[in-house]
Amino acid sequence: MKIGFIGCGNMGEAILGAVHRKHVCLACEPRAERQKALRKRYKVVFGMLSDVVRASDLVILAVKPQDLPDVLAEMRTLPLKGKIIVSIAAGITTKAIDRALRGAKIVRVMPNLPALIGEGVSGLCAGGRATSKDLAVARRIFDAVGSTVVVKEKMLDAVTAVSGSGPAYVFLFAEAMMKAARRLGFSEAEAKALVYGTLLGSTHMLAKSPDSAEDLRLKVTSKGGTTQAATDVFLRKDILGMFEQALAAACHRARELSK
Ligand SMILES: NC(=O)c1ccc[n+]([C@@H]2O[C@H](COP(=O)([O-])OP(=O)(O)OC[C@H]3O[C@@H](n4cnc5c(N)ncnc54)[C@H](OP(=O)(O)O)[C@@H]3O)[C@@H](O)[C@H]2O)c1
Repeated sequence: MKIGFIGCGNMGEAILGAVHRKHVCLACEPRAERQKALRKRYKVVFGMLSDVVRASDLVILAVKPQDLPDVLAEMRTLPLKGKIIVSIAAGITTKAIDRALRGAKIVRVMPNLPALIGEGVSGLCAGGRATSKDLAVARRIFDAVGSTVVVKEKMLDAVTAVSGSGPAYVFLFAEAMMKAARRLGFSEAEAKALVYGTLLGSTHMLAKSPDSAEDLRLKVTSKGGTTQAATDVFLRKDILGMFEQALAAACHRARELSK
C-alpha cells in the first residue's frame, strides 16, 4: 500500500518509522532540514501535498489541529475517490473533515504519546464513507505503534480523557512518588531506580495478570501492614473520586475544544 503523510513531526515520524519497511511511504513536510533527517532514517519520498495525496492509497493527516483547515482546503480539489483519509488531529470531527472533503473515506484516530516508542494505544472510529474494511486497514497501521481500540465517534472525547491525556497522569504519579521518595532520604538516582522500577514491574504484571488492578492491590495489602498504612491515606483523600473528576474534566474540555 502507498501511505502518504501530510505533516511528519513527532507523531508522523512515529507512524512512518513503524510502517516504512512494509509500505511505500510518501510525505509532505515543509522544513527542509527535517526532510533531510527523516530521509536518512526511513525509506520515504518527499513531495508537494498534491503529489503525495494523488500518489497515496491512504493519507495520514498528521499536522497540528490549527493547520488542518489549510491542508483540507488544499486537498479539496484533488481526486480522493477510493482513498482512505486518516486524521489524527485532536478534536476535529469526521463531520468537519467530511464537509471539507466531500466523498472521502474518513477514519479518525486518537493516538497517545507512547506511540513514539511503539507502545501507544489509539482509539479509532470510522466516519464519512469509510467501511469496516477501511477501518481495519487503518487499524493495522496504528497497531504497528502499539495497540488499538475501535469506538463510536461520540466516545472519542472520552478516549482523549483516558488514554490521550493518560500518560500525563502516570507522569504525575511518578513525579509525586519521586518527591516522596526523596523526602524519605533517597538520592535522585536511588529514587529513580526504585520508583521507575516499581512502575515498570507493576504495569507489566498488571498487563500479564488475569486479576484486576483492584484484586492485585488487595493481594499485596495485608491487614494492618505497611501497604495498608499508605493506601488508607490515598483512599481517605478519595483518590478514586479524584480520578473520576479529573477524567470527567478532561472529557468535558475535549468536547468544548471539538466544537
Ligand atoms: N504528539 C502527541 O502525543 C499526539 C497525541 C494525540 C494526537 N496528536 C495529534 O497529532 C497531530 C500531530 O502532532 P505532532 O505532535 O506530531 O505535531 P508536530 O510535531 O508539530 O508535527 C506536525 C508537522 O506538520 C508540519 N506541517 C504544518 N503545516 C503543514 C502543511 N500545511 N503541510 C504539511 N506539513 C505541515 C509541521 O511543520 P512546522 O513545524 O514547520 O509547522 C510539523 O512538522 C496533531 O494534530 C495532534 O493533535 C498528537
